[in-house]
Amino acid sequence: MNKDSRDFAGGATTDYEPWHPELERYPLAKMPKLAPVEQKTREALYRQSKKQPPRDYGFARDRDIAKYYSAEAMQREWKGLWTKTWLLVGNANDVPTPNSFMKVDIGKESILIVRGEDGSLRAMYNVCQHRGTRLVTQDFGRSKKFICPFHHWEFGNDGSCLKVAKAETFRKETLANDFSLPRVKVDTWNGLVFINLNPDAEPLLEFLPAEFRDMLEAYDLARWIRVVDVEQEWPVNWKTALESFIEGYHVEAIHPQMNPYFDSYYVQQDLYDNGFARSIFPFMSPMPTHPSYNKAGLSDEHKVFMRDAGLTESEFPERSVDVRAAIVEAKRRNQDRLGMDYARFTDEQLVDDWNIGVFPSATFNIHPEGMLFQRWWPHAHDPRKMVYYYQVYAMPGVKEMPTYMGVPKDADTSGTKVLPRTHSATGDLEVLGSVLSQDATFLPRLQAGLESDGFRGSVFSEQELRIRQFHAEYHKRLDAVKD
Ligand code: FES
Ligand SMILES: [Fe+2]
Repeated sequence: MNKDSRDFAGGATTDYEPWHPELERYPLAKMPKLAPVEQKTREALYRQSKKQPPRDYGFARDRDIAKYYSAEAMQREWKGLWTKTWLLVGNANDVPTPNSFMKVDIGKESILIVRGEDGSLRAMYNVCQHRGTRLVTQDFGRSKKFICPFHHWEFGNDGSCLKVAKAETFRKETLANDFSLPRVKVDTWNGLVFINLNPDAEPLLEFLPAEFRDMLEAYDLARWIRVVDVEQEWPVNWKTALESFIEGYHVEAIHPQMNPYFDSYYVQQDLYDNGFARSIFPFMSPMPTHPSYNKAGLSDEHKVFMRDAGLTESEFPERSVDVRAAIVEAKRRNQDRLGMDYARFTDEQLVDDWNIGVFPSATFNIHPEGMLFQRWWPHAHDPRKMVYYYQVYAMPGVKEMPTYMGVPKDADTSGTKVLPRTHSATGDLEVLGSVLSQDATFLPRLQAGLESDGFRGSVFSEQELRIRQFHAEYHKRLDAVKD
């Protein structure tokens, strides 16, 4: 059969080998030998990056496009998703000491997460019980009590009502009400902080798949420090944005500058329970279709990543295909100087980008040195807007963060100061860097087309498998809502 006779209408008539999740192409064989670590540890390391068996989410065209703009869908999501699911909101070090707090805004709600004198975390609604004022507008801080600015009622950071101002002016029947701040479920795993607005939620550990926990075991997340924190409103639905961050299919077209060093074609995709997933993007490998593939010559990004690993210009290999091995070798050799202990990681983890999806709408791109943590959260009232959070967490003491994360050279990784959040205006591309700017600039164009009567619904390639998995979990949860 001739190559061009493929049935583009969706049939299975192919005479070439299409990309498929079963395709094992994770380039273990090309890597240098692991540093001498115990066999048991080595086996555990390989288990972490082991490919999962494929899961089939079908091939149907998604005609439910109203979910990207309708107010009705937004309400259903609020009922079925945002108020029912564990939400990853940050790291234990965001509230490092007794009496420190952080404010988490989700949709129309605002939640305070407070570390008590006893060291444990509590979460409560950020709303004065007198007439409903938001108690706190600061993102992070430290206080034993919260004083409402409207009439000066006072609340302890455990949520108890400490003082009704001029209490003698209230009738005693009125004062008999419960004025404590309603509690919200909060829990942590390996330093990651989650909240759940559903008082009857399942335990957090039931929500986090075992494979998710296994693969993060080697990272000492509880010690990681927030070094970048940006919030920006985007004029698109949160799913329009999220979905473009859980597929690599668009990278070649929208981020062409990455093609010399980012293979977005051969990507290992692992799908887990509860909408969790991982993609392993081979960093430093060119796209197979790129002219530089298998030729001499390095891109600027190859050089940047090698410098991050402590290599000097004279040590650079000539061909881009040798860059991965050079980085692994250099990182292991220079680990003390880089402030790292790489023995706990596979060679691939020292180079590759592990993009981990935490349902419903967070991802982190994790490396031994730190992680880029992103969230695409709903707007309080408008389905055509969303709130984007872009945070970077670093290993304390690390000397070189992956440059692509955009961490300032003088970032404080000591953990002694709490970094304030940068609230940036829509369209401020400076804070996003080049790659994120390309996404942020492009997405409104997608949102506009989605609403056209001429759009018949989305179809997904196998490189967009995680979107289908996301939809399956999303609809399962929304369908469970009783009206
Ligand atoms: S609304 Fe808070 S004290 Fe009145
Ligand atoms: Fe992108």
